[in-house]
Amino acid sequence: MKQKFVGISGRLAAVVGVSATLLIAATAHAQFAKPEDAIKYRQSAFTVAGTHFARLAAMARGTVPYDAAKAQESAKIVDTVMQLPWEAFVPTSGGAPAKMKGDPLANMGDVKQLSEKLLAETAKLPGAAGNLESLKTQVGATGAACKSCHDKYRQTN
Ligand code: HEC
Repeated sequence: MKQKFVGISGRLAAVVGVSATLLIAATAHAQFAKPEDAIKYRQSAFTVAGTHFARLAAMARGTVPYDAAKAQESAKIVDTVMQLPWEAFVPTSGGAPAKMKGDPLANMGDVKQLSEKLLAETAKLPGAAGNLESLKTQVGATGAACKSCHDKYRQTN
C-alpha cells in the first residue's frame, strides 16, 4: 500500500516537473508580445553590455587610463547583462529591425554553444579587471568569443 502510494506520487511529481518545464518555456515566449519587443530587448542588452565592454577594451588598449574600480564595475555589468539577450532569440524575431545573418534563429543549438563560450569568458572578467595585465588578456579572450558569433550571425552593414 505504502509502496503504491510512493509510486503514484513519484509519477505525479514527474508530471508536475514536466508541466513546470513546459510552462517556463511558454512564459519565455509570452514575455514578448510582439517580435519587435524581443528584438528591442536583445539589442538593448547587447548595446548596454557592448558599451561597457568598449570601456574595458579602451583601458586594455591604453586609450583611456586604467582605473581598477571602474574596470571592475564595467566587468560586472558585462558579465550580468550578457546573460540576457539569449532568451529573446525567439522564432519570428529575425526580421527588421534585427540585424542578423546566417539565420541564428534556425541554429539555436549553435547559438547556445557560442553564448555559453562567451559566458565562460565574461565570468572571468570581474576577477581579471583588478589588474591591467590580466584585464588585457581577458578582454582579448572575451572579444574573440564575441567575434566568433558575430562573424556567423551578426549583420554589420
Ligand atoms: C552567440 C552569438 C553572439 C555573441 C557571443 C555575441 N553577440 Fe553581439 N550580437 C549577436 C547578434 C545575432 C546580434 C544582432 C541582434 C539583432 O539585431 O537582433 C548582435 C548584436 C550586437 C550589438 C548591436 C546591437 C544593436 O542594437 O544593433 C552589439 C553592440 C553587440 N552585439 C555586442 C556584443 C559584444 C560586446 C559581445 C561580446 C562581449 C557580443 N555581442 C557577443 C550575437 C552575438
